[in-house]
Amino acid sequence: MKNLLELRNLHVQIGTMDGGKVFPLQGIDLIVGENEAVGLVGESGSGKSMTLRAILRMLPRGGQQTEGQITLNGNRLDDAASNVFEKVRGRQISMIFQDPVSALSPLLSIGDQISDVYRYNMGATKTEGWQRALDLLGALSITGAEKVARRYPHQMSGGMAQRINIAMALVCEPQMLLADEPTTGLDVTTQMQVLELLSDQMRKRDASLLFVSHDLRVVGKICEKVGVMYGGVLMEFGTSNDIFVSPRHPYTQRLLECARIDVDDELKSIPGSVPKLDRIHGLCPFRNRCNRKLEVCNHEMPPIALLDNNHISRCHHN
Ligand SMILES: Nc1ncnc2c1ncn2[C@@H]1O[C@H](COP(=O)(O)OP(=O)(O)O)[C@@H](O)[C@H]1O
Ligand SMILES: [Mg+2]
Repeated sequence: MKNLLELRNLHVQIGTMDGGKVFPLQGIDLIVGENEAVGLVGESGSGKSMTLRAILRMLPRGGQQTEGQITLNGNRLDDAASNVFEKVRGRQISMIFQDPVSALSPLLSIGDQISDVYRYNMGATKTEGWQRALDLLGALSITGAEKVARRYPHQMSGGMAQRINIAMALVCEPQMLLADEPTTGLDVTTQMQVLELLSDQMRKRDASLLFVSHDLRVVGKICEKVGVMYGGVLMEFGTSNDIFVSPRHPYTQRLLECARIDVDDELKSIPGSVPKLDRIHGLCPFRNRCNRKLEVCNHEMPPIALLDNNHISRCHHN
């Protein structure tokens, strides 16, 4: 399988208002292949959103990529000297955000918003853009496309607004879709419908997906590979089967245990809290919460171990 999106040793640093620094990404290596759906999971604050923001150059104020490379189809996206990024954003890579209503402009009708994205990127006319919007709404099984296209975001339910965001992300047929918790604010039934739509469209269009969620079950449903992040570090990566059935990293194992207990309505989380990111760890970021900690964990950052068939884990136990 051909690699589509590649992150190599990605480091991000943010300068804070008080003159301090935060290091939310500390050397992320991640590959998304063609026609592949990859999930990114991990507790809140582990760097999932920051990873997507780095790819799309949407880092918070004071943030910058300090090391590493980001490539799409072998072309550097993070090279400030070239204009590759401007050319591919929207056309080859696009993103679906967590809050569907605020991701839309309140001032434009749905049809105009979809049409404008198409016109801006593809140089189409107003008529072509509007037709494209209607076609797409139809393709997403949105009934009464004509009527919906004339509505405004505040007149939509969250589920419908997220379908519109999916339409906007797909309008130029990108190969690579990024999605950051796209169904988190929706009720369970709508959540499943929107996920099915996303997954279905991605496969129909031969696109790839990098899907961020704190919900392991959702990721298990739609992704064939999964990365587990913690403290700005990729702890484990493998097929959904590797991660959900035979996880090797203690962090992944604890995360799954907690998700399983959560099924019985007894909400549980891993004791302790996520590490401060005010320095480069140098050691395993999970060591102080880990119930399988070894003496060596106090002295050495575990290397990335290749277990088998691209299943990797960053732990001294491997
Ligand atoms: N604007 C910001 N300034 C400083 N630190 C930030 C900012 N935004 C996020 N962070 C820090 O970056 C880390 C990763 O955040 P994020 O990628 O949003 O986590 P996740 O999406 O996994 O919940 C967090 O520890 C957070 O505190
Ligand atoms: Mg996030």
